Amino acid sequence: MSDQVLILAIETSCDETAAAVVRDGREICSTVVASQADLHARYGGVFPEMASRQHIKTIQAVVQDALDGAGMTLAGIDALAVTRGPGLPGSLVVGVNLAKGLALASGLPLIGVNHLEGHIYAAWLAGYDREPQFPLVALVVSGGHTELVLMKDHLVYESLGSTLDDAAGEAFDKTARLLDLGYPGGPRIQKAAEDGNPQRFDFPRAWLEGSLDFSFSGLKTAVLRQVQSLQEAPGGIPVSDIAAGFQEAVIDVLVTKTLRAAQEREARSIVVAGGVSANKPLRQAFESAAEIPVFIPPLALCTDNAAMIAAAGHYRFQAGQRDGLNFDILPNWPLSELETAAFRLEA
Ligand code: KG4
Ligand code: ZN
Repeated sequence: MSDQVLILAIETSCDETAAAVVRDGREICSTVVASQADLHARYGGVFPEMASRQHIKTIQAVVQDALDGAGMTLAGIDALAVTRGPGLPGSLVVGVNLAKGLALASGLPLIGVNHLEGHIYAAWLAGYDREPQFPLVALVVSGGHTELVLMKDHLVYESLGSTLDDAAGEAFDKTARLLDLGYPGGPRIQKAAEDGNPQRFDFPRAWLEGSLDFSFSGLKTAVLRQVQSLQEAPGGIPVSDIAAGFQEAVIDVLVTKTLRAAQEREARSIVVAGGVSANKPLRQAFESAAEIPVFIPPLALCTDNAAMIAAAGHYRFQAGQRDGLNFDILPNWPLSELETAAFRLEA
């Protein structure tokens, strides 16, 4: 593998407008994330049309900032990577079209990257002294996805389990709304849970009889019932205790199933990625329970960013992937449908 490959990546799959320059898939030269969270907070979730318009307003400045931050121009870049999906169509199209424009103007190769693959590759950015070893089990827990996958090699995914209903982040967001904590829900539940007693309420865990799939709808309903039954309670709803009980139930299932998958598949490392992996008690639970190395990116690389897209783009670039200018966005694009065979890395 040649050294010194500089990738400029663009990420606009949801409500963060992001660009980054990454060297050799590991070293972040610059990373810029313009969050729209405040804009969407008053709607209690992402408002797709508004997200798209905001991306259009900020994307050029964000890309310019990323280049400036790395101290370079397009002339110093070797390839462009962009999130092709999954995500909101009106958001994805903004990043993809800008990336195509830049590729056309500069003649640089362009690589379409799967957003979930990007989350996993954030683990390669996290530290420079070691990297995840294959085979590995990766848990991707974001606002839209909960996926447990086996990676026997770079870019090769075997689906082990996924959610049957809500994604883990979605469960956090919906529960936060139920508890009037606002958006985004994950960090607010985490904060509220700090002063809570997780044992006060016995919330259900969906083990699904030996399956590695997940389900959070029963838990969500249990929280709803609890909130309704305590509506008239003196002192009001015990938000902290409910948040703590909910959070513990989610963590319990995520950690237990991931460790089981790792054991069954004789994994040498575990990667935990996606917005929910920013959750502190979840990180602690993995670190204290796992007997093999666990890679969880630093907080800023857990939630959506473009450095992770550059990292995944780097491995695809090295494997020979080139996407030309006529590819379309893929708003629904499961990891299991990635074209890996054609782009296997040379050992
Ligand atoms: O990966 P991400 O930034 O965007 C998507 O690709 O969806 O994930 C966003 C999700 C949201 O549901 C948010 O509530 C959740 O990640 N999240 C957290 C925490 N920080 C963000 N969930 C639990 N605890 C956190 N600290
Ligand atoms: Zn994401």
